[in-house]
Amino acid sequence: MCGIVGYIGHRDAYPIIIKGLRRLEYRGYDSAGIALYDGEDINLSKTKGKVEDLKKKADKSISTSGALGMGHTRWATHGVPNDVNSHPHYSNSGNLVIIHNGIIENYESIKKELIKRGYTFQSDTDTEVLVNLIEEVKKQEDVKLGKAVQIALNEVVGAYAIAVFDKQKPDEIVVAKLGSPLAIGIGENEYFIASDASPFIEYTNNAVYLEDEEMAIVRLGKEIKLRKIKDDAIAYPNILELKMNIEQIEKGGYDHFMLKEIYEQPRAILDTYRGRLRADQGIIKMAGIDEHLEKFMNANRIIIVACGTSWHAGLVAEYIFEDLARVPVEVEYASEFRYRNPVITNKDVLIAISQSGETADTLAAIKLAKEKGAFVFGVCNVVGSSIARETDAGAYTHAGPEIGVASTKAFTTQITVLTLIALKLAKEKGEFSESKFHEFLTELETIPAKVEKALESNPLVEIISDVYKDATNCLYLGRGYNFPVALEGALKLKEISYIHAEGYPAAEMKHGPIALIDDQMPVFVIATKKGHYEKVVSNIQEIKSRKGKIIAIVTEGDEQVTELADHVIEVPETLESLSPLLTTIPLQLLSYHIAVMRGCNVDQPRNLAKSVTVE
Ligand code: F6R
Repeated sequence: MCGIVGYIGHRDAYPIIIKGLRRLEYRGYDSAGIALYDGEDINLSKTKGKVEDLKKKADKSISTSGALGMGHTRWATHGVPNDVNSHPHYSNSGNLVIIHNGIIENYESIKKELIKRGYTFQSDTDTEVLVNLIEEVKKQEDVKLGKAVQIALNEVVGAYAIAVFDKQKPDEIVVAKLGSPLAIGIGENEYFIASDASPFIEYTNNAVYLEDEEMAIVRLGKEIKLRKIKDDAIAYPNILELKMNIEQIEKGGYDHFMLKEIYEQPRAILDTYRGRLRADQGIIKMAGIDEHLEKFMNANRIIIVACGTSWHAGLVAEYIFEDLARVPVEVEYASEFRYRNPVITNKDVLIAISQSGETADTLAAIKLAKEKGAFVFGVCNVVGSSIARETDAGAYTHAGPEIGVASTKAFTTQITVLTLIALKLAKEKGEFSESKFHEFLTELETIPAKVEKALESNPLVEIISDVYKDATNCLYLGRGYNFPVALEGALKLKEISYIHAEGYPAAEMKHGPIALIDDQMPVFVIATKKGHYEKVVSNIQEIKSRKGKIIAIVTEGDEQVTELADHVIEVPETLESLSPLLTTIPLQLLSYHIAVMRGCNVDQPRNLAKSVTVE
């Protein structure tokens, strides 16, 4: 969590950093700060609140000139969100400035030691401790900044992406990474530093992503020098050419990123299977699977690890893999898996799903599975992310940047990738006849158009949202493939509108949640034609006889549920296993509209961050 941006070059750093921080606000937005070197001194401004608040404050209170600077948008870990705890932090001499994304776990013992040596601290943060440790090392060892950073980092335990500069040597920024992402954009006699490439994409397409335990000295007029933090070994920068463009990271006429991203799903799903699915030739080509097919074919089981919405995509995949490819699957919360001493063997395949590719718990689960000999496959959206690099092989979801904190297009593209894998395995294992395989491939090709159709429900969903916007509790029910969609619908609503919502398998309702149902309780039921339709109809009867309000997601042309429900939203018909790609759409729109109507900050809901790099 937290976003960091730095600039050194020939342009005005201030607008670059402010714009970059706005783009990184998805990573944390409880406070923000900026430090600029104006040729003589450092001008620093920090505030509780958003980047917009920072800009207002900085415009009034500091000189914003200078071609060297850095900024930070925070998601608090150590110390409440307030002006003082915001980054950047100075060292005691006032010479060094730091920004940090991550956690220094042993900061208290280091702080005690520094206090004994006369250091004082303004904030409650672990980061202020780190910058003073660097200063102390620099003084004691009489070394340059880069060396001091390296020695200090060898004393700390934790995770970090940091950038530090020294006003006495304003031609360089020192950066280092362990556990949190850090990209360096390389321009013409200028460098950009950021948590991801979005802050610098309009200036350069060339970037280096630091690996864990690497540091770099970014010096004007010189090539980037990379070192291993532990043993000082030289590392060689792998300069990537980025494919992202500026339009992809802007709102493009929509009021919110979330709405834009919901509407991008037809394109995102198409991009995700484009080049992989060839229905006319009856093949699925995925390099990450083709090269490791034996691992999948010989696997005793597939373990899926993920968090949040990605975990819900994993649950959908469990149904798909078991149903189509007949492979046993277990789906685990990464945070539980990593700490419960799981039995893992070299006959297991672990699939890690993550939009950001940076989720700390998922990353730790991958490391554990690798240690135990499992083959680890990643399904990530962010190219070059930590999880993408840590896994043995993988397949990207080509959703494009997802900026809204609530995940939407990542979910449907994750399901798309996992469906492709399951179909491929089903074919290879002989579970599918040619004609069944062909039927699936051709149906998958119709999904973008059907998602487009499902999006046409938007005006109706808006009307329904208005009816239920003041609810305090909601239930979401689904069966089979659509049980995870119920969970996802509930998560979307609670995280952006702050309404309490629970997702349940529809039949499980009688084992407890039915007690909650009265005439105040909206119940969203996924009741598509294929997949236990009659059973769901019975569940709807049970809700109706207790006066619950029923909002049903049904297949086009449905009559039976339409008779019973208070509202119905139609989605096109498809194969049962592909139905989550459609049924999830109205639920995303519903949570969006309810949140907007309640005046909530849709793209940056309270207490959340897009990328959870702390456990
Ligand atoms: C919910 C949401 C989160 C993420 C979770 C995992 O809308 O966005 O629940 O799904 O934090 O993040 P990734 O997929 O980046 O590992």
